[in-house]
Amino acid sequence: MELHKNFIDGQWVEGAEVNRNINPSDTNEVVGEYARADQAQAKEAIAAARGALESWKLATIQQRSDVLDAIGTEILARREELGKLLSREEGKTLNEGIGETIRGGMVFKFFAGEALRPAGEAIPSVRPGVEVEIAREPVGVVGIITPWNFPIAIPAWKIAPALAYGNSVVFKPADLTPACGWELAEIISRSGLPDGVFNLVMGAGSRVGQTFVDSPEVDAITFTGSVPNGRRVRAAAAPRGAKVQLEMGGKNPMIVLDDADLDRAVAAAVDGAFFQTGQRCTASSRLIVTDGIHDAFVDAVTQRIKNLKVDNAIKPGTEMGPAVSQSQFDIDLDYLKIGKEEGANLVWGGEPLERETPGFYLSPALFTETHNNMRINREEIFGPVASVIRVKDYEEAVEVANDTGFGLSSGICTTSLKYAHDFKRRSAAGIVTVNLPTAGVDYHVPFGGRKDSSYGSREQGTYAKEFYTNVKTAYIAP
Ligand code: UN1
Repeated sequence: MELHKNFIDGQWVEGAEVNRNINPSDTNEVVGEYARADQAQAKEAIAAARGALESWKLATIQQRSDVLDAIGTEILARREELGKLLSREEGKTLNEGIGETIRGGMVFKFFAGEALRPAGEAIPSVRPGVEVEIAREPVGVVGIITPWNFPIAIPAWKIAPALAYGNSVVFKPADLTPACGWELAEIISRSGLPDGVFNLVMGAGSRVGQTFVDSPEVDAITFTGSVPNGRRVRAAAAPRGAKVQLEMGGKNPMIVLDDADLDRAVAAAVDGAFFQTGQRCTASSRLIVTDGIHDAFVDAVTQRIKNLKVDNAIKPGTEMGPAVSQSQFDIDLDYLKIGKEEGANLVWGGEPLERETPGFYLSPALFTETHNNMRINREEIFGPVASVIRVKDYEEAVEVANDTGFGLSSGICTTSLKYAHDFKRRSAAGIVTVNLPTAGVDYHVPFGGRKDSSYGSREQGTYAKEFYTNVKTAYIAP
């Protein structure tokens, strides 16, 4: 089997170890072998990025735009092939894999445009004979650490703006899903960037990620992953003065009011809670339902998930793939046990399933009779497990929705403009949806949350420039 190598200073290089990438839908299948760097190699990549910074800072905006456009074009052209690879290594369905690949391509296209729209202002000074200019400059070397659940879209939405605004990059994809990161790096390696501007360093978070976080040569760290790891990143990088941007967990509420369109509410809840096997930080994991619609909603969701086809991610007709790994599968089972012990009623699912190919299959699980103080409603599970919390009215629903340590996304299903507007204002989350799942966001608008879900400025859209640039104010007396 051919080894997929790291890409450092324009060269493909072996790592210190080899990582066998296993297909969670068929654990007999090795998707590929990937290099794992040690600390020394991570430091080499950082030095290369530092050395190349000036060349990319000086590149014209046309050069930057052309590079990003070429990357986006190739990703979009190869959507089927890359989408299938994504499904094989991560376990989301083929449609989901292709959809995510398209999103990754579109992100590069978006930032190809943004590269041509540098922000700046020229304004008068309050002093006579002085002019003021406000410009944005690259931050420098950006360390990018990404999770396994969106192995192409999240790297895209960090790498594309980093390059668009003139930064150099050291990129570490998740150790569980290196294949998409590697393919992205291979495409980027042929896009016309000067050597060293973009570096791929696959490997463990504890070695490669930690080296990025600790290195005084890395000016900014953008991380998506778990809360404990995000806190570790901040604790190490912020005190040394690095810019830090974190996207972490969620325990996202979806309110369903008596006046909701039942079919739309069920569709939104099932998509939000179970698609992509519930492995989204934006998943609708707390379904907060008012008394009048509660029983009809629970019945309809249960019917729908009983018929949800759980199988090999790339098999036609599959609606939900497996958990990504044995350890995530075990976490899911653990929380199912915890929920039962806490007194929640498991109406359906949570059973390990056998399929033609051996994989981490679990039936979608729905708890009812849950209370917002239960651990299954406080802690992020990151699997196909959702809870229903019964409330008496809208006011109680809002209170329960906001009573969480997280604040990423939130949703409401209602036909009332009054409640929809009110919730939009009072939700303590960074993203609010109305009659839509809390997950599955657009690529051209800001993404991010509050409280334990996020730290630093927003990702995506034009807002990404806050993180990837530094502002400079110049005073000129001509
Ligand atoms: C989405 O719901 O479309 O890791 C995006 C995650 C998020 C991205 C979710 N950072 O699940």
